[in-house]
Amino acid sequence: VRPKVVIARHLREEVMRLFDRPDLDVVAWPSETEACDRNWLLNNIAGATGVLVMLTDKVNAELLDAAGPTLCVVSTMSVGYEHVDVQLLARRNVKLGYTPDVLTDAVADISVMLALMAGRNVRSTTNIVQNGDWPNYPWSPFGFCGPQLSTNWIHSTRTMGFIGFGRIAQATLKRLVPFGFTHCLYASNPSSLPNPTRDAEVAQKYGLREVRRVALDELARESDVVFVLAPGGPELYHIVNEQFLKQMKKTAVLVNTARGTLVDSEALAKALREGWLWGAGVDVVEGEPKVAADHPLVKEPRCVVLPHIGSATTETRLGMATTAAKNLIAGVLNEPMPVELKMTQ
Ligand code: GLV
Ligand code: GLV
Repeated sequence: VRPKVVIARHLREEVMRLFDRPDLDVVAWPSETEACDRNWLLNNIAGATGVLVMLTDKVNAELLDAAGPTLCVVSTMSVGYEHVDVQLLARRNVKLGYTPDVLTDAVADISVMLALMAGRNVRSTTNIVQNGDWPNYPWSPFGFCGPQLSTNWIHSTRTMGFIGFGRIAQATLKRLVPFGFTHCLYASNPSSLPNPTRDAEVAQKYGLREVRRVALDELARESDVVFVLAPGGPELYHIVNEQFLKQMKKTAVLVNTARGTLVDSEALAKALREGWLWGAGVDVVEGEPKVAADHPLVKEPRCVVLPHIGSATTETRLGMATTAAKNLIAGVLNEPMPVELKMTQ
């Protein structure tokens, strides 16, 4: 019998065409813009060998039970897998395909953009122009001044900090080198081994004075910009909290382009209001997309909030969709998947 695959979102035609093959029985949610209805998914996944999901679809016991023992592949069109119960998949011998690499540059781009926007008051100043208020704010010597991200005549050193130091963090690092950054600090999973050789190589490659793994407190104290680029999940819940924010430089900016759960929104809003740090740029918010106009971060003029568009370039999304499709097809046909997450039980 042909393996059944369920696609939880309509993708561009050129991607859907990949499923046009006689050896698959394909069931696809018809809309690209409207999220797949949960009940539709639970009903249609029965007896499926593989499923292609978005980061908005929870992959949990409910879904796996609805699929039954035939399920052997989950393919997510995302690099993140906070929505996937990875342990459960490992226990049930279900493989997970995901889409790293292809989105690294797009997310690094937007991370730098948010750092600049947060530092240079882009939110409040564009509002002024859009409201027709520019005439009331003629050019003034120190009007709208924010901290400078690049090295300058006052600051000959700049330190970038990363919470999580994977592919996207290192692509962001690379983009900051021409800004004159001199130091890089990062915090990463305490259970992973320190890698001073790799760190020295990265420092050497980019002409940085140091690349060093540090504790969160030192990261907060020393960084001029902090990028949150960790996977998320319960272990890292609110890793950026009051204690972290209190230690940041008053001129520093925080950027979160990873997962909303990593940052305590209430604490960040308070920190911005009270000037513990200069500004923040977030592409993800805990509880998204239920983030209303009265959300503390949306109300905070020093916070730029984007609706999770870090990877949203046409090129990157096509690459992610194509990778997700190829992962699914290879997985259900029992061929090596182009990009499989290596899971440890
Ligand atoms: C986006 O957030 C992703 O995980 O791909
Ligand atoms: C700014 O517009 C300048 O001319 O310095």
